[in-house]
Amino acid sequence: MSARATSRWVVVKFGGTSVSSLANWRNIALVVKRRLEAGNRVLVVHSAITKITDGLEKLLAAAIDGKPDEPLKAIEQRHRDLTSELGITVSPQLQGYFDELKQMANGIALVRELSDRTRARVMANGELMATEIGARFLMSQGVDVTWMDARDMLSAEDRGASAKASVLSATCSFAPDTALEQKLDASTPVVITQGFIARDSDGNTCLLGRGGSDTSASYLGAKIRARAIEIWTDVPGMFSANPRATPAARLIRALHYDEAQEIATSGAKVLHPRCLLPARQYQIPLYVYATQTPDLEGTLISGESAPGAHVKAVCNRKGITLISLDSPGMWHQVGFMADAFAVFKEHGMSVDLVSTSETNVTVSLDPAANTLDGELLGKLQRDLSRLSNVRVIGPCASVSLVGRNIRAILHKLGDAFALFEEQKVYLVSQAANDLNFTFVVDENQGDRLVEQLHDLLIRPGKGDPVMGPTWEQLFAKPEAVAARAQPWWSTKRDELLGTLATRDSAFVYDLGQVEMAARSITGLKSIGRALYALKANPHPDILRRVAEQGVGFDCVSLAEIERVFEAVPGIQADRILFTPNFAPREEYERALALGVHVTIDNLFVLQHWLDAFNGKSVFLRIDTGIGRGHHHHVKTAGAQSKFGIPVEELDEVARLAKAGDVSIHGLHAHAGSGVFDVENWTQVGSVLVGLVKRFPDVKYIDVGGGLGVPDRIEGRELDLARLDGALAKVKGALPGVELWLEPGRYLVANAGVLLARVTQTKVKSGIRYVGIATGMNSLIRPALYGAHHDIVNLTRYGEPANIQANVVGPICESSDFLGHDRLLPECHSGDVLLIATAGAYGRAMSSNYNLRAPAEELLI
Ligand code: LLP
Repeated sequence: MSARATSRWVVVKFGGTSVSSLANWRNIALVVKRRLEAGNRVLVVHSAITKITDGLEKLLAAAIDGKPDEPLKAIEQRHRDLTSELGITVSPQLQGYFDELKQMANGIALVRELSDRTRARVMANGELMATEIGARFLMSQGVDVTWMDARDMLSAEDRGASAKASVLSATCSFAPDTALEQKLDASTPVVITQGFIARDSDGNTCLLGRGGSDTSASYLGAKIRARAIEIWTDVPGMFSANPRATPAARLIRALHYDEAQEIATSGAKVLHPRCLLPARQYQIPLYVYATQTPDLEGTLISGESAPGAHVKAVCNRKGITLISLDSPGMWHQVGFMADAFAVFKEHGMSVDLVSTSETNVTVSLDPAANTLDGELLGKLQRDLSRLSNVRVIGPCASVSLVGRNIRAILHKLGDAFALFEEQKVYLVSQAANDLNFTFVVDENQGDRLVEQLHDLLIRPGKGDPVMGPTWEQLFAKPEAVAARAQPWWSTKRDELLGTLATRDSAFVYDLGQVEMAARSITGLKSIGRALYALKANPHPDILRRVAEQGVGFDCVSLAEIERVFEAVPGIQADRILFTPNFAPREEYERALALGVHVTIDNLFVLQHWLDAFNGKSVFLRIDTGIGRGHHHHVKTAGAQSKFGIPVEELDEVARLAKAGDVSIHGLHAHAGSGVFDVENWTQVGSVLVGLVKRFPDVKYIDVGGGLGVPDRIEGRELDLARLDGALAKVKGALPGVELWLEPGRYLVANAGVLLARVTQTKVKSGIRYVGIATGMNSLIRPALYGAHHDIVNLTRYGEPANIQANVVGPICESSDFLGHDRLLPECHSGDVLLIATAGAYGRAMSSNYNLRAPAEELLI
């Protein structure tokens, strides 16, 4: 186990994409030469050309069907193309591999049969052909290189005394091998060999399984006691999340083997998890670099770890199946777990996470380790049901926080846990090694959860030695960011600056955007009426534009009702719904007199003011018990919420209504704000549908608002087509009843931006601040909910971001910030910053705090 004197060898492994173009091969030559210049010898291990392994699989399938010619030709041509791209000729050896492949394919076509051994031999040709090309190219670049057959270096292990090595997924011994070391030492300073292949004790070609080239490199590194193992791939290191899904993911500069293992097994695809063990056992540092960008720093994986607690990555693994075993009888029952696990073993299933309580055991099955099909699951379920009640839950995603001393940062997870209130967490597991904290949720929740947890937990300080730059900082070109989505304001820079004129700050609204959003809501086929919840933004021009689209209004105060009548003269009263909460009696009386729909959300109102409602028809606001939202402050249902009538009070409501001659013609519920899961409205709707039979006069069902709007340019949008489908299910359950929806944010959030001029800048304790003319007095959402609003420097729009700063306002509160750690170009006094998605709950929630008037409102 101990570190041994290392040799001069460095093992450098290149993946399929890395060996498929001239540009990459030039970089490979550069890397090899640099290692030589540093006094090392270099063992190059590489994979087949990209897509060739798949091509060989296709060839095998075609050969069994008797038609190998087409795929054969394609494979050969691909290799010929690469040789000419690299400026080398087809060597006799390469021609030999083409011929051999042809013979094997024709042989299979003849007998229409394929053994594992033949399969392994055919597949191995991918690596053999590629390394032959690689060796020739390096020679052409003046590198003194020897081609070696990896099968002469790696021996597949027999599995147990009786079982022979599996030729398709072999493992190899990696104990130090002096003979191999001597053989390499006696060769040229550079040796090139194949990943993925080995030989068993009978001389058969074996494969190491998909992703096996990383493992080959690591085996070889361990055997020759290499100084370092370098894995060159198409991402420059391990990141704090999958950078393709989370562009704010950061390069992790250094990881301990254990942490890298957790990340690799928790869903990241950069490194094959199996490759860590040999490196770790012999304490060989392992680096991850990108072939396309050989000068980027990469990740170092070693036995060292920075002290302190640190979440380093948020990983997401999909396709997880949970098996939940319920049995009241398992309490103190000796051997229950052993019996249950024996069943998993019998079916060859590898169990990953486990959680237990007195009456339930839930385990997860990872698709990477198990081939799960319906039939197998059925058998497993049948056998387990002899022991307890069995439930199969899936598909799920496991979202893992990986890092050091996770336990010590659990208190910080408070806010993270608020995210989980919205969704079902099926299983939570904390590894005893304190490196991993995992939640299993519905698969479609995984990505969003990763994004939110990443935003919350990966916040490096200035000069953080471990967390490096973000993926976006490294790679995103302004055009690429723009291509992802073009917010309307990105093409209206001059108009916006002109509208702001000499002012210090202003909210600017684009009514065309409001109209578009309103149309997409009125376009939903399932709903009978859309009402705009004007608490989000009661600007009169917005109300008029919304009304023109045939949308009604949801008001929560008498003043809001009056605003609608003023802004939209002549509007019919029954297009307005009044949904107050703890309002005084006079407001109900006035609303009833105006003829608007009125919602009662408390038994008290009927108990004490029944006479005010005599002969009237009203809505009831029900607490469905389902509270959701982007923050716990905006969840408006459930035991902790002050809104709505709980279902158990409805008998009393019905009795009082009858006694007071009050007709209940509508049922209403609203779960909360900022919801992306369309099931929300199906669930709320089905609770209301279930109550209709108790109130036979019901004509309307209002399932509330809360439609989420992404807070980042690249954020996922609410899927309106799916929402329509979900609502259609609710409507289908009650054909005679009209369905209402009352979005606020959805109609206006994107339509508004807050513009504010930079006042002062500051650097204190290494932290940069950009101060702007208005703050939480205009936009309180970041301070109140930790909400994210994208921020750009409109004056310098398109210039590269080269600073990271907190954007703060002028209010005397430490919470007066608009954004933390934002990437911006250098900001100067007088520059105009744009704070996006500020059309909803911006000016509407503003104040005169510190006697600073909030930003005024303008239209373009
Ligand atoms: N209907 C009812 C009964 C509501 O209480 C609300 C919002 C809505 C509809 C509209 O929800 P929306 O579609 O806008 O999400 N200030 C918070 C949002 C509070 C929402 C309160 N009720 C924020 O800035 O996120």
